[in-house]
Amino acid sequence: MTVTIVGAQLGDEGKGGMVDRWSERADVVCRYQGGDNAGHTVVHGDTPATDGGTTSVGETDTASQVGTEYKLSLVPSGAIRGKVGVLGNGCVVNPEVLFSEIEGLRERGLDPDVRVAERAHVIFPYHRVFDGSEEDEKGELAAGTTGKGIGPAYEDKAGRRGVRVGDLLDPEILRERLEYIVPRKRAVCEAVYDIDPGEAFDIEELFAEYRAYGERLAEENMTVNGGEFLDERLARGEQVLFEGAQGTGIDIDHGIYPYVTSSNPSAGGAAVGTGLGPTVIGGAESEIVGVVKAYLSRVGTGPLPTELGFVEGQTPDGGGDPEAADIATEIRDKGGEYGTVTGRPRRIGWLDMPMLRHAARVNGFTGLAVNHIDTLAGLDAVKVGHSYTVDTDDSSANERLTMPTTTERWGECEATLRTFDGWSETDWNEVADEGYDALPENARTYLEYVSNELSTPIYAVGVGPDREQTVVREDPFA
Ligand code: GDP
Ligand code: IMO
Ligand code: MG
Repeated sequence: MTVTIVGAQLGDEGKGGMVDRWSERADVVCRYQGGDNAGHTVVHGDTPATDGGTTSVGETDTASQVGTEYKLSLVPSGAIRGKVGVLGNGCVVNPEVLFSEIEGLRERGLDPDVRVAERAHVIFPYHRVFDGSEEDEKGELAAGTTGKGIGPAYEDKAGRRGVRVGDLLDPEILRERLEYIVPRKRAVCEAVYDIDPGEAFDIEELFAEYRAYGERLAEENMTVNGGEFLDERLARGEQVLFEGAQGTGIDIDHGIYPYVTSSNPSAGGAAVGTGLGPTVIGGAESEIVGVVKAYLSRVGTGPLPTELGFVEGQTPDGGGDPEAADIATEIRDKGGEYGTVTGRPRRIGWLDMPMLRHAARVNGFTGLAVNHIDTLAGLDAVKVGHSYTVDTDDSSANERLTMPTTTERWGECEATLRTFDGWSETDWNEVADEGYDALPENARTYLEYVSNELSTPIYAVGVGPDREQTVVREDPFA
């Protein structure tokens, strides 16, 4: 069977932690979209997560530290438990980042077995250059990207001029592709962005570097026909877990366009991005679990109706709620809400129920994992944006329960808040041991509201970053 883990909001819901938790019973963990824009955290072991034992694998500045926290951008999170990882055809792969992340994990005593679909597209240095230049020019429409070249790589894929992982294996094909692409990229760079192209646009340099990646992928036996590989594993009775990156709210089709990523994090992406049919991903035995953060966080720009406080450079003019800056800071600091990839402070808001209702429909969730219940502890009151009011043409207030289709309209929505009594700090390890009924009553009231509104059962509740700090009600693989 398969279990698909999908972010229900705007990314960083705690997907890495849930994948780690549930990959215990999985044999293969597969990413189906995105690239190294993802930053997935796995925490486990004896060192408390708060005491600074952090290693960011793949980020060279911290890769030599040793700790119990792993931050993964490309290697599927099952690697921490020694599970086979697959990067499906829907991913965009920066081979330099992939190898450096694998090496970082090896230095820490792990031996990641990562397979890369030959149909996955490759990120080149020029994609990063375009990512930065276009963001600079876009002004208010800039999404605040991670700068990893994700959008430009998907653009080339859709424009039928991309280089795929399989192309790195054949020097003649790689050269032929680069000879077509690079002069065009160089011309756009000079004519449109008026910048010196440099070595990111040099065919010989690129050929040498990427051919070497191709040789290494072949030597380490890392490339596969993704769909066939997964199908064979399933036929043997193995369990496959699909690890979504980003979140439904920043899905290119169903998210807050144009402040979105360039792929489909939503569950449908797990079929298209792996080469398995929708009946496999969504079959009677399969599960699609939405990961929900108990509040909202956002790295990037665009509107956010339930936003608390204000983050310079990300919150649009007139957005946020400066009077609630203290609550935002408290949640941000307690929840460690600083971008895993970019280090940017994340914007904070109350839970946005219209966004979650939209996500539940788009994904067809069979279960929910709600994280960060511990982070909200200690607040007198916890609020949620239950619905939106939008001014209609006749200027009467109009209540909406789901998101409007345009982001401009979403920006005009005012959240109608519901208030729940807060819950106190407690011994969360004990709660995780004892189970759901040990959660503070007010937290359970909050969780049950979410579950009822989405007509979806809660499978797990996160009460801390560690693998063991999860209240598991139902293991989707069981
Ligand atoms: P992802 O991108 O969805 O995998 O999430 P990130 O790793 O970017 O961000 C989630 C952050 O919250 C990480 O620092 C996690 O260790 C942490 N985290 C996840 N679940 C919980 C939880 O239930 N409580 C607390 N306090 N932290 C959590
Ligand atoms: P994980 O998997 C949160 C956001 C960026 C930007 C927009 C487009 O860790 O949840 P991109 O570089 O993808 O072209 O940027 O999407 N974004 C994320 N936000 N979590 C992520 O991944 C994200 N990946 C991209 O901040 O607004
Ligand atoms: Mg993240």
